[in-house]
Amino acid sequence: MARKPLVAGNWKMNKTTIEATFLLQELAYACEKRYEDMDVVVCPPFTNLRSARVVFDSDKSGIKIGAQDVFWEDEGAYTGAISPLMLKELGCSYCIVGHSERREFFGETDEMVNAKARALIRHGIAPIICCGETLETRDAGETESFVTAQVRAALTEITADEAQKAVIAYEPIWAIGTGHTPTPEMAEETCAAIRLELTELYGTATAQEMRILYGGSMKPSNVKHFEPLPNIDGGLIGGASLVAADFIDLLKAFD
Ligand code: PGA
Repeated sequence: MARKPLVAGNWKMNKTTIEATFLLQELAYACEKRYEDMDVVVCPPFTNLRSARVVFDSDKSGIKIGAQDVFWEDEGAYTGAISPLMLKELGCSYCIVGHSERREFFGETDEMVNAKARALIRHGIAPIICCGETLETRDAGETESFVTAQVRAALTEITADEAQKAVIAYEPIWAIGTGHTPTPEMAEETCAAIRLELTELYGTATAQEMRILYGGSMKPSNVKHFEPLPNIDGGLIGGASLVAADFIDLLKAFD
């Protein structure tokens, strides 16, 4: 089964509105084609979602918009929070949940990741569910059990039909923003373990349809190691998504 590749740029907490508008326009301009056989997603900070919508609505690239986080309620007294309804209104079709930086700096738990994923699916937004181990967990030989437990927890009470929309992003924490990457064998082994977990949860047909991304210091110079791997269907790109030429090179690698 051929899965449609997906490459998503996670801008994290970078770019003022003026800087973002410049980068969005650079991206739209540099895209030489309309992406139809792969999904390309840009996830800027909340403050730049509207600019992203305006730029990509009026160009031909087919680039989609995603958010980096969400709260699970639709509305109410939750100061500072953003709901799935608000994201939908701005045209977001994807939203990252459970990024290791949210788990580390904002106390996000597996239960919260699950609540966010369910809320997004309820509103037709595809969650990009992040998982990944620390170096200590890897050194202890517990990567697979740790990562698959994160995936299982994030998908609690999500049916096979609903899960088809979800995307899993495997991001070893020690590879994020460090320039270190796992060997292709390590990345493939962990992503294959994730797919096996999805098979146990939902059966082969659904597990074969769900996309698994690799993330963590992916760059034009190392994408060739990851792109051919059978269980890797694209990338979640941090640093390299802030440079239009690099992001476009990564798109070309998966196209
Ligand atoms: P990086 O970040 O590409 O800068 O390592 C990836 C991510 O955190 O999603």
